[in-house]
Amino acid sequence: MDHTKRVYNDIFEMLPTEENPSPMVRINRLNPNPDFPLFAKLEWMNPFGSVKDRAAWTMLRDLEKRGEINEKRGIVEPTSGNTGISLAAMARARGYHMRAVVPNKVPLEKKLLLKIAGADLDVISDELCPAPGLGDGSINLAKTHAKAQAHRYAMPNQYENEHNVQAHLQTTGPEIWRQTDGRITHLFVSLGTCGTVSGTSKFLKSKNPEIKVIAVQPTEGHDVPGLRNVSQLGVSKLFDSSLVDDILEIEFRLAYARALDLCQNEGLLAGPSSGLIFEGTREIIMRDKKGLGVMIFPDNIFKYTSNMAKHIAGLMSGTQA
Ligand SMILES: Cc1ncc(COP(=O)(O)O)c(C=O)c1O
Repeated sequence: MDHTKRVYNDIFEMLPTEENPSPMVRINRLNPNPDFPLFAKLEWMNPFGSVKDRAAWTMLRDLEKRGEINEKRGIVEPTSGNTGISLAAMARARGYHMRAVVPNKVPLEKKLLLKIAGADLDVISDELCPAPGLGDGSINLAKTHAKAQAHRYAMPNQYENEHNVQAHLQTTGPEIWRQTDGRITHLFVSLGTCGTVSGTSKFLKSKNPEIKVIAVQPTEGHDVPGLRNVSQLGVSKLFDSSLVDDILEIEFRLAYARALDLCQNEGLLAGPSSGLIFEGTREIIMRDKKGLGVMIFPDNIFKYTSNMAKHIAGLMSGTQA
């Protein structure tokens, strides 16, 4: 495959690999520390629009290889949106059906996108990022579907599936190592299922144990889809504290303010979890003074315009005749 020509036989050939990495773009106007170059890795450039393309593809391929899915038996998955969008589009392109169980607080744009991508939708009242073991949450409902209708559904279960970590161990980590010529000193990530942090950190620390991995989380009661607050961390089976050097808890509204800054000053149309990561990064690059940082920006702002209107004062003004 010749990635310089960018002519592909199907959409799956576009998925990120070490030979075809998601791009990294330097932060220019918003970096307050000239001794600490910062790069944003733009996961929204992946073919289905987010970092979750990596985990979705690795989990789907595993189910295919094990003969767990076919034209009659599709997939059911709890999701705050991105995994579901990637899985739905991939599944439908390969002839499988897909059912997504989403918390009601997920933005309308994501719910609509799930339907447009071809998923059947269950919307339930739940925490924003589904948490294993909590009452009748999205995870339990998806598990119930998978059990009661085992002939119709296999459940990848991104919250417990080791392939979610493997995806980042095999792609995100090697891409970053190569893109920085091994010069990365700090990795900045957010925590949802913790697949990104665990896989990427494991790879990078195997290359250089001195690399610092910083994770950011929103404050409790947050409205940042895809992410977890500290109080929910204990239930993340893929979280490994030995792979994380610092966890920062950041006021969740700053996720929206910083996303707006990135949009309006860097030309980076970053979503709220990227905004939250950027806020945490700014703290650390002032503390640690020198280094080379990479931030993994999970998705872009297009799925969050209604959330932006909710959290950025005055955004709606002047939008009506
Ligand atoms: C927008 C967004 N940001 C961050 C994350 C966190 O990634 P991970 O689940 O790999 O921890 C997710 C995961 O769903 C997400 O959708």
